[in-house]
Formats: sequence, structure tokens, C-alpha cells
Amino acid sequence: MCGIVGYIGHRDAAEIILKGLQRLEYRGYDSAGMAVINGQMDVLKVKGKVKELLKMTRKKKVHGSLGIGHTRWATHGEPNDVNAHPHMGAYRKFALVHNGIIENYDVLRQDLGQKGHHFAGDTDTEVLAHLIEEIHEMSDVDFTEAVRLALTQVEGTYGIAIVHKYHPDRIIVARKGSPLLIGIGDGEYFVASDASPVIEFTKKVVYLEDDEMAVISREGYEVSTLKNVPLTKEVHELAMNLEQIEKGGFPHFMLKEIFEQPDTIADCMRGRLIVDENRIQLGGLTGVEKRLASARRVIIAACGTSWHAGLVGEYLFEYLAHIPVEVEYASEFRYRETLINEQDVMLVISQSGETADTLAALRQARKRGAMVLGICNVVGSTIARETDAGVYTHAGPEIGVASTKAFTAQVTVLAMMAMMMGRYKKVLSDELMAELVRELNRVPSLVKMILRDTKKIEEVARLFTYAPNFLYLGRSYNFPVALEGALKLKEISYIHAEGYPAAEMKHGPIALIDEHMPVVVIAATDHTNDKMISNVEEVKARKGRIIAISSNGQSEVGKLAEFTITIPEIHDCLSPLVAVVPLQLLSYYIAVNRKCDVDQPRNLAKSVTVE
Ligand code: G6P
Repeated sequence: MCGIVGYIGHRDAAEIILKGLQRLEYRGYDSAGMAVINGQMDVLKVKGKVKELLKMTRKKKVHGSLGIGHTRWATHGEPNDVNAHPHMGAYRKFALVHNGIIENYDVLRQDLGQKGHHFAGDTDTEVLAHLIEEIHEMSDVDFTEAVRLALTQVEGTYGIAIVHKYHPDRIIVARKGSPLLIGIGDGEYFVASDASPVIEFTKKVVYLEDDEMAVISREGYEVSTLKNVPLTKEVHELAMNLEQIEKGGFPHFMLKEIFEQPDTIADCMRGRLIVDENRIQLGGLTGVEKRLASARRVIIAACGTSWHAGLVGEYLFEYLAHIPVEVEYASEFRYRETLINEQDVMLVISQSGETADTLAALRQARKRGAMVLGICNVVGSTIARETDAGVYTHAGPEIGVASTKAFTAQVTVLAMMAMMMGRYKKVLSDELMAELVRELNRVPSLVKMILRDTKKIEEVARLFTYAPNFLYLGRSYNFPVALEGALKLKEISYIHAEGYPAAEMKHGPIALIDEHMPVVVIAATDHTNDKMISNVEEVKARKGRIIAISSNGQSEVGKLAEFTITIPEIHDCLSPLVAVVPLQLLSYYIAVNRKCDVDQPRNLAKSVTVE
């Protein structure tokens, strides 16, 4: 949430920052800004997307070999030019960009106000800038020390980068709860809130941990704790490549990522699904099976789409591994008396590995003695680093704000975990295991079949482009898919949509059904098929417009529906992996028809690093 990029070296910092901000724009795009030093300090800030900043930079011909930039997702203060980062103190000597929230900003603001500080905007970040200035101007400490001292006074979360007009030899960075890394080049260094702006220039990175700061010059970088203890940091090698973060001929990242799914699901299973031996091998969980098998309960904590994957996981763990599961919104879990203890296992699911609420839930569970496992996509992310053990989804960078390939990869991992644990606990029979191994292995080719012909989905999208509401119904494994389908539509097309367990419809949503209401019915699970037919009849009786997502064997539902989108048959418990794909496409085509900004939907951000 919000993106930071910085550069110090011998190249044009403005160009590197602009390109970096464009790569980071998926993290927020309310406003953008940068500060570049070249004798003087040029600070440019503008409401809107990075392209506005680019125009301004070209017009003002800003150049320099040191600078920082920011793309914002507003928390405190509306998105406008003034509230855009960087922020400066009254003397305009230094510029600061910030991700996160300074929670005690109001107290600090009042205190600084009494000391004569005036604030141009409403942001918490501007308060931090004034605090640093106050300490620097009023005490006998150098600028770096002033930053350190200021940070000891703030409560909340931050990833910050600062440049100073009269110290054009350094960038100061610090982190608490908001990710930040240093990219190491040859006589040049990069700063970024994730790896995407850096990958083009270097694969060597150092991740800052909470309560650490660094001073970066052209000669090197020095990392220390906020208590001033010097640290030697491990240098990591990035696994991603540039191609993965470009559109590759697709009009949108989201479409590219939907079409990548046959490969990402296969990548996720590679070396883990051992087909010849009917076996699952998840190296990341070696040594924790016993504790997982004997857990009193597994608590899955996640947000958004990852939470939907967690719901599928619940069904899978119960069915295949006989492990009791509770699925929690991480944001609710963290503030509840959840009675978690060392007999429990928490499994957190996060594409980015940086979601603030998920991270907080993880920390709370650990504090209370539970083992914490993770399913993350971003290698080296905070959540991945803080879990006791876990499994990467290996879906590659997901840039589209609406999550697609991360969901199918998460469900694939959950299916493999459940199968592995079912075997470990000896509750999953040889026959069913063999069948599921075969079925899982087919998933990439089944998804490919759906993607080969999208005409029907496009036709349905055309007909319902201007529908004001949608209802999604699913049962069993596909109830979470109904939720996910509705979420995709809301996120990118701004159509109000609700996902419901089909039978629950009778308890409320049925009142909404009339001849205008599109009802997407996911009929891909055999064992609830008869019940589903009854639910579809109920919709039909009220003249709802039924769009069935139906596997080949579910023709009864197909007969009742006005439109049927056929998906290949697969074992019930794996059906979410194929059933979700047409729903991703349906929302995509509707959003495109409505001329919505698919990859950067309004008000959303890819990775939510604030509460
Ligand atoms: C945001 C994104 C969603 C994502 C959710 C959880 O809301 O827009 O796509 O599902 O955060 O993110 P995570 O990275 O933890 O999976």
C-alpha cells in the first residue's frame, strides 16, 4: 500500500524513480511525487497517477543522480497535490516519503503546533517531517541522528526514505511494519517497497526488518537498529525476472495473469505432486507434520481473496485430513479473545506476504504459543519470514489488483497440504489419494481448455454489462468460489454483487430476485447437485436470469439456466480450481465493457499494509 522508490548513483534518478513508480503503481495510485537533488532539491507532487508526474517531470526538466519517489494510497488526508508525498519541513531542506500510518500524529501535531509549526496538509507524514526538522534544528545532532530520534517518538507503522538538500550523498531509510528493501548495484543503490522497481537493475537485495534504519551512499550502506546497534545484513538474490512484471502483449495484467494459470498451477505443483509415486512432497513443511496432525484446530487467517482460498482450505482439510479448521478474517481475529494457544496451529495465507492485519494475526498467534505456518506468494516477504514453516505458491509476481492466479495457486497448495496430511494421518485411502493425484495433475490442462474458448463468457458479459446487481450462488467447495466471483466483479467493475451459499439464499437474498437479476450459479459439485437443482428452481420461479457455470455432468442445472458456461469435470473437492476461472473472465470482460481501469480499480490497492 503506497509505493516507495529511491535511487543514489550515477544515472538519472528521475527516470529510474518514474519507471519504478510505474511498476509500483499497483500498490496505490491516488497521487504521486518525487524529490530529486542536483545542487538544488526539486520536489514535484501531483494528484492522480504516475503519468501525471511524468508529464510534470518532463516539463520541468528535472534531473539528478539522487532522489526518492512515492505513489500514494490515501489514509490520512484526501488525495490532492498538497497531501501527496514527499513531505518537507518548514525550511524545505529535506524531503520524506512514507508508507504506513503514524498513529500518534495528532498528539505530535498539536505539540509541534505549539512550538510554531504550520502544516500545509492533513497527512500524518507531514507531521513526521516537522518532527524530524524540530529535532534537527533545536538540538545539536546531525541529520541522521535527528531521523533516528524522531522515529523513537512515533507510534504506528512506517517505511520511509529521506533525502537532504545539503547532504546529497545519502538516502536515509527506516522500517517498522511496512516493507522496504535496498537493491545493491555497482556504485549505485536502490530503495523500494517491493522488488519490482529494482529487478531491472540488480538482483541483489537486502531486506530491512522492523526497527532498522540504513544510511545509503554511493559507496555502500550501513544498517543499524533504531537503538543504534550496527548490523550486518544478509544479501538475498531475487528470483523474479523482468518479463514476469510486464504485460507481455496482453491489454491488462489481470488478463495476462488469468491466462498464466495453467502454468502457475503447474509451477506450484512442480516437484511437489509426485504422480508416479502417488505422493505429495512439501519441503517447506518437513518436520512440522506431527504438530499439524495433532493440532487441536487449525486457524486459517487471511484477508480478501486469500480468505476465500482459506475457506476452500477448510473444506479440504476436514474432508481429506480430518483436521478441524476455523477460517478467520485476520482483521477480526487480531482484536478478539480467540483463546488460541500452543495446541493450535495458525495457517496464514497471503499473496503479498505484507498484509498488515494478516501479519498482526500471525504475531498474536505466535505470542500465544501456536505454531504458525504460511502460504505466501512473494518470496522473502515479511509474513514468509516470520512464519515457522510454510509453502510458497510460486505463481510469479501478481500485478493486477484483483487477485486471480494467486487464488488458484493458494487453493492448489491447500489441496496438496490436505492430501499430504491425510496420508500422514492415515485417514486418506490409497484409492482416493491416487484419484486426487491424477485429478490435480490434470488441472493445468483443464484450465487451458476453459481459456481456449472464451466466446460464451464474453457474450454473457456483453449482455449483463450494465446490470446494477449480481448474485453468485455456490454450495460446498464452490460456496467460496461464489464469494470470490462476486468480489472480482465488485472490485473491477463496481457492480454490486453478493456471493451466497445457495441454500442460504432463501433467508434473505431471494427477496432481491426479479426478472432483472443475473444469478450466477456454480454447479460443479456432484454431491450437492440435487440440492443445487432445487435452489436453481427457486431462482427460476422468481424469473431470475440464471447463468450456470456447469460441469459437463451437471446438465440438469444447464437445462434450467438461460446461459450455461461449461467447465470440464473434475473431482468435487478440486472443482474450485476450474470453476473460478470463468468468473474471473466474466468480471474482466464486464469491467472492460464498462471502460473501468481493470488493473487499477478505484480506491483499491494490491497490498494493504495498513490496518
Ligand atoms: C487486497 C488486494 C486483494 C487481496 C487482499 C489480501 O485487498 O486487493 O486482492 O486478496 O488484499 O492480500 P494478500 O496479499 O494478503 O493476499
